[in-house]
Amino acid sequence: MKQRILVTGGAGYIGSHTVVELQNAGYEVIVIDNLSNSRADVIDGIERITHIRPAFEILDCNDRNGLVRLFEKYPGIKGIIHFAASKAVGESVHQPLQYYKNNITSLINLLELMPEYQVQAIVFSSSCTVYGQPDLLPVDENAPIKPALSPYGNTKQINEEIIRDVIYSGVPYKSIILRYFNPIGAHPSVEIGELPQGTPQNLVPFLTQTAIGIRKELSVFGNDYNTPDGSCIRDYINVVDLAKAHVIAVDRLLGGKNLSNVEVFNLGTGQGVSVLELIETFERVTGVKVPYKIVARREGDIEKVWANPAYANRVLGWKAVESLDDTLLSSWKWQLKLRERAIM
Ligand code: UD1
Repeated sequence: MKQRILVTGGAGYIGSHTVVELQNAGYEVIVIDNLSNSRADVIDGIERITHIRPAFEILDCNDRNGLVRLFEKYPGIKGIIHFAASKAVGESVHQPLQYYKNNITSLINLLELMPEYQVQAIVFSSSCTVYGQPDLLPVDENAPIKPALSPYGNTKQINEEIIRDVIYSGVPYKSIILRYFNPIGAHPSVEIGELPQGTPQNLVPFLTQTAIGIRKELSVFGNDYNTPDGSCIRDYINVVDLAKAHVIAVDRLLGGKNLSNVEVFNLGTGQGVSVLELIETFERVTGVKVPYKIVARREGDIEKVWANPAYANRVLGWKAVESLDDTLLSSWKWQLKLRERAIM
């Protein structure tokens, strides 16, 4: 019988790609999402790719009674992948309580209910933001956690600590914490991708919206950093590669292959790419010019960070395989598809 997995935030960007990979791997998926930053028709896209429609409920993880009803309605959930969270760094600075309440209460609700419903495993979406500006690059999982630069970043750190404390207290479940670097790209079918609401804060959606003419020009935040071309460096990882790591994490926890009851993995490519290099690559692979200007540094930005993914490569047997060229091409095809569908 197929094992049931609950995916919170499963209509979101990384969540939806992960639902596809879970279904491809033979899991039965239940998606919950409050649709605060996503659209219900994402579920149609998932169905078009996999020919399976996941069960879908509009539900906020802060609604504890709603979660109880969900676990009653779908008995036998074996594992949870918890994506649902607010993730706008700037917004979190202005609305810290909303971020703490939303991102922390939702995790606590799930952790509290897991033993009652015999849920054995939880995979948590964390971020390389927990490393701040690392002293050593590439950064590995043993690097010290630096004070968070935003309430959003702090919620990731706090949630990691909550998971560790709860697991060490001896609860009957296990966890894998995945620290993502910068996820970009769209599913090769172009049925699902990133759907930013309002003005995109992240680089690639802003870039593709500029390339298609929705935005006049892209602002490059700073060219006076201590990097070869002066712009910031990140580790851009293909979203499908990233999604596949979640399936491996679930297999590992449910198969009892974990080495400890809480494990942490970096999910990145190991390659640092600057903002200017990324723009050049996009222009080369698509043949589309991106108007941009250099502006002041963005507050809170880290100069350079890229992953040492060796631990995930070795222990999970997972590796990012998609090239930056193909990934950026998929982002562009997705942007064109959004226009075709008159969504954006
Ligand atoms: C940020 C967060 C990260 C979070 C992620 C998802 C930090 C340090 N990082 O990643 O924790 O998980 O968002 O929301 O808070 N850039 C431009 N012009 C733009 C937009 C971005 O030049 O219009 C540059 C930025 O300065 C940065 C790079 O592009 O160097 C990537 O930015 P972005 O896509 O926003 O991701 P991060 O800031 O790395």
